[in-house]
Amino acid sequence: MVQTSTTWVNPLRDPRDKRLPLIAGPCSVVIFGVTGDLSRKKLMPAIYDLANRGLLPPGFSLVGFARRDWNSHDFGQVVHDAVKQYARTPFREEVWQHLAEGIRFVQGEFDDDAAFDTLAVTLGELDLTRGTGGNHAFYLSIPPGAFPTVLRQLHRSGLCADTGEAWRRVVIEKPFGHDLESALELNSLVGEVFPPSSVFRIDHYLGKETVQNLLAMRFANQLFEPIWNSNYVDHVQITQAEDIGVGGRAGYYDGIGAARDVIQNHLLQLLALTAMEEPVSFDPKDLRTEKAKVLSAVRTPTDAAAVGRDTARGQYAAGWQGGVKVPGYLEEDGISPSSTTETYAAVKLMIDTRRWAGVPFYLRTGKRLGKRVTEIAVVFKRAPHLPFAHTDTEELGSNALVIRVQPDEGITIRFGSKVPGPSMEVRDVNMDFSYGQSFTEASPEAYERLILDVLLGEPSLFPQDEEVELSWKILDPIEKVWGSMKTQPEPYLSGTWGPPSADVMMARDGRTWRRP
Ligand code: BG6
Repeated sequence: MVQTSTTWVNPLRDPRDKRLPLIAGPCSVVIFGVTGDLSRKKLMPAIYDLANRGLLPPGFSLVGFARRDWNSHDFGQVVHDAVKQYARTPFREEVWQHLAEGIRFVQGEFDDDAAFDTLAVTLGELDLTRGTGGNHAFYLSIPPGAFPTVLRQLHRSGLCADTGEAWRRVVIEKPFGHDLESALELNSLVGEVFPPSSVFRIDHYLGKETVQNLLAMRFANQLFEPIWNSNYVDHVQITQAEDIGVGGRAGYYDGIGAARDVIQNHLLQLLALTAMEEPVSFDPKDLRTEKAKVLSAVRTPTDAAAVGRDTARGQYAAGWQGGVKVPGYLEEDGISPSSTTETYAAVKLMIDTRRWAGVPFYLRTGKRLGKRVTEIAVVFKRAPHLPFAHTDTEELGSNALVIRVQPDEGITIRFGSKVPGPSMEVRDVNMDFSYGQSFTEASPEAYERLILDVLLGEPSLFPQDEEVELSWKILDPIEKVWGSMKTQPEPYLSGTWGPPSADVMMARDGRTWRRP
């Protein structure tokens, strides 16, 4: 189904509108792992959404590579169904038809030389017939064990050679290894085949609008930065809570656990953006320098006593979620009944810099918790003096600034206010900024932003190798102690807020977890 591309202009896009983001130049995306969940639920819909927003070039082509006995038509149908089910923007037949013209499928195993030769021929044809210009992004949405084979094949078939005129980029999904050693190996393996500027590591949290807004909030305003330090901040809580369980991902998740799955990447990136110094500019190099600096100042618990005191790990037991009885982790399909994998992890980290000395950063993540919510709460010290009767401030908590990453994206500021009436009673109130109310523009999905940035060659939102390695340096000592304990993580009932030891960890510091 080779067709010559026509010049197609999306009617929704007004080229005079300067606020609209850049359009990707001629290119194609090759996805390895097209039969996986991520492809169906996130990547294919994001590509359609980009097309629908007029951000893909007219001859854009999508190539799927997998073992499945499909032809391009079958694969097109899979993309179509995924788009219909999961795309963010409305389905428009003309956008779909145009996208479908550039869909191809190459069938084969990862170690099959002939299949990669066919891929090279297919991409060459697309360059000729659809004008993709030799620019190709290879998206590895595959288990890390398959990376070496695919990278070797791309190299062998000459597909990663940057010609100077055309670009070749590789997109890598996490996990970036399972510890520092394996991350170094992976980085050097990728580095043998692609230059650093062609490697795009996905941490989809960085693609979220609310996460990027952290930078705007901190550095575009005068209001927050003066109090963003240990003189005013008591502690910071970063929470990523999910109400779902492991679902169909047992094969990936078991043996990995909550800390490697979420803390090593998403939560440490959120910590870095919250705690870093102002970058000289938003140039990728300057941004990464500041993130790496703050990550290298993180002090992590190392010996068994410190890990016992400053971390908590749990595993969900059966319980009720949204009125439905749900199984415990050990009863889930594909999970060994003796698995010691944690589904909840909390850690207390200190940052050894002048700005943050003495301010703990508490990070927690878990599955099957009370509700799905991700937030960064900066909790301030109490006023040094309260000129009120003690009874008037009994209901006054600490001031807090909460960045609501998801859902209900926005920012809340909590402070004390006088309760109307004759007494001087002061109680906590909230002041809210909500994306939904303040903006008419809808937030794109994280994957839309990140895929577009790959095609534009814009690397700011992609962690580079140093950040990944520093994050493993923070987590490795904790994992080592946990691994040596060989004990079952503490069970917690599904639908609750994690194991009691996490509350004990906070209580020891005279603090409590927020109930988002
Ligand atoms: C992924 C983890 O990176 O992030 C998953 O592997 C987790 O286990 C997911 O469910 C959460 O992403 P989001 O965007 O839904 O918070």
